[in-house]
Amino acid sequence: MKPARPKRRNEDRRSPRKHSAPGEKPQRQPATSARPAPPRRSGALPDERLPVILEVLPNDDYALLDSGGGQKLEQYGPYRIVRPEGQAIWRPALGPAEWNRADAIFTGDTDEEGMGRWRFPREPLGETWPMRHDGIDYLGRFTSFRHVGVFPEQATHWSHMETLVREARRPVKVLNLFGYTGLASLVAARAGAEVTHVDASKKAIGWARENQEMAGLGDKPIRWICEDAVKFAEREARRGNAYDIVLFDPPAYGRGPKGEVWQLFEDLPYLADLCRSILTPRPLAVVLTAYSIRASFFAIHALMRDTFAGDGGRVESGELIIREKSAGRALSTSLFSRWVAS
Ligand SMILES: C[S@@+](CC[C@H](N)C(=O)[O-])C[C@H]1O[C@@H](n2cnc3c(N)ncnc32)[C@H](O)[C@@H]1O
Repeated sequence: MKPARPKRRNEDRRSPRKHSAPGEKPQRQPATSARPAPPRRSGALPDERLPVILEVLPNDDYALLDSGGGQKLEQYGPYRIVRPEGQAIWRPALGPAEWNRADAIFTGDTDEEGMGRWRFPREPLGETWPMRHDGIDYLGRFTSFRHVGVFPEQATHWSHMETLVREARRPVKVLNLFGYTGLASLVAARAGAEVTHVDASKKAIGWARENQEMAGLGDKPIRWICEDAVKFAEREARRGNAYDIVLFDPPAYGRGPKGEVWQLFEDLPYLADLCRSILTPRPLAVVLTAYSIRASFFAIHALMRDTFAGDGGRVESGELIIREKSAGRALSTSLFSRWVAS
């Protein structure tokens, strides 16, 4: 049964955060229906494993070279990039000579859009450049939100999902909600899954499709859907369409294409329940990542265990971190919680 969407509080009070739909300005919120929160399930809670710290080490495709002084120095394929990093409250381990070799620096100039918010100290660069993840070619890109078209710390989720798909040895359907530029969708498709990718931003869907071509995975079954994630999941529940793996990486605040408001703290319990309700009879996993929220991973861990009460399996929760090359410090990027079937 489809869960009821909770009543909204503090409508339109939050400013858009890091992962709002790229290039889209917040608008006024349309009226939403008031529904009670999903009821608590009575079944036994899944086993638990925590804390789980999922770590990305420096590799040939991507490396966190150094961090400190409120910034990070990263290597994305051929380019060395400097971006702001609020968590890097320590001093850089590498000297200015290394930092000064950057190809691109995010300046964040507020009177500029897109590439104008970046400075290229060595030579002018195009908006995109060739990148690779574990043999999958795609495009890095300089966006006005200081993002570069990929969240490298997600790589551990991608390899976990890839293993689940390959080891299932049966057709697997993956739903990637809030899918952005589609790296998770490409990894799943390469592993043999039938993929449905949903994002509210037309621009992001366009970038994801470009990445599919770039990766040479154009013949793989990926449905690209530009829609509000909650609305899409609600429709799948109504139609009885189901998935073996659901990934959802919602922003703190976001907008659907028709102005639908997404607010993590208010909408997450509803969406988690909805994701559970669209699983196949032999599901594999549901993976939730939460960036930039003021909470401990225990909060989303408790939510996921409640959501999967009675379904067995195990809930594993912790953080996604990237290990720095220079001094080996861990840069924490987000909280995550995943339910994995037994
Ligand atoms: C954090 S990013 C996802 C990153 C992705 N998991 C990855 O690893 O590359 C958030 C994405 O959510 C999308 N988004 C924001 N609000 C949305 C909504 N209401 N429905 C669907 N997608 C939304 C944005 O367009 C953006 O692409």
